Amino acid sequence: MNNVLIVYYSLFKNTENLALEIAIQTDGTIRELIPESDYSFDYNTAVKEVRNQISRGFCPKLISGNESIDDYQTIFIGTPNWFKTLAPPVMSFLRLHDFSDKTIIPFCTHGGGGFGKIENDIAKECSNARILPGYDVNGIAASAEVKNWLERIGYEFKQK
Ligand SMILES: Cc1cc2nc3c(=O)[nH]c(=O)nc-3n(C[C@H](O)[C@H](O)[C@H](O)COP(=O)(O)O)c2cc1C
Repeated sequence: MNNVLIVYYSLFKNTENLALEIAIQTDGTIRELIPESDYSFDYNTAVKEVRNQISRGFCPKLISGNESIDDYQTIFIGTPNWFKTLAPPVMSFLRLHDFSDKTIIPFCTHGGGGFGKIENDIAKECSNARILPGYDVNGIAASAEVKNWLERIGYEFKQK
C-alpha cells in the first residue's frame, strides 16, 4: 500500500469513474463516501434535496468512508459540482478530519460549470493543507487526460 488515498462521493457514477481512473494510475487506495441517507436518483428530486441541504450548510452523517486518514499523505478529493460547490457528504468528510501537512488534490465532474467554487471551498476548509491544481471534466474522463494532469502537477506516476 502506498500513502495515496482517493476519496469521493458520486450519485450518478461520473465522479466514481474518475476516481477509479485516478486510483488505477496512482496505485492509491479508493474510498467512497456514503451518507446516512442518499439522494434520489430522480434528477429533479435530487436537485430539491441538495439545494435544501446546501442552503442550510447541512453536512450529513457518513455511514462509510470516514475512517482515519492517518496512513495517507496525499489525498485526492472528488465531488460532483452541485450548484457550483461540493456535494454535502464531501463537506462532511472535510469537516471531520485534520489535513495539516497533507497534500490535497481536488477533482470534480460537472455538466459544463467546471470547478465552480469547489477548489476555493476546499482551500477554505483545509487551510493547513498543501493544495495542488485539480482536474475537472464534463461527464466521463479520458485516461490519457488524467495521465497528463498527474504528470503536469508533478505527481509521480505509479508511485510506490
Ligand atoms: C443537484 C445537482 C446540482 C448540479 N449542479 C450543477 C452545477 O451547478 N454546475 C454543473 O456544471 N453541473 C451541475 N450538476 C451536474 C453534475 O455536476 C454532473 O452531472 C456530475 O458529473 C454528476 O456527478 P456524479 O455522476 O458523480 O453524481 C448538478 C447535478 C445535480 C444532481
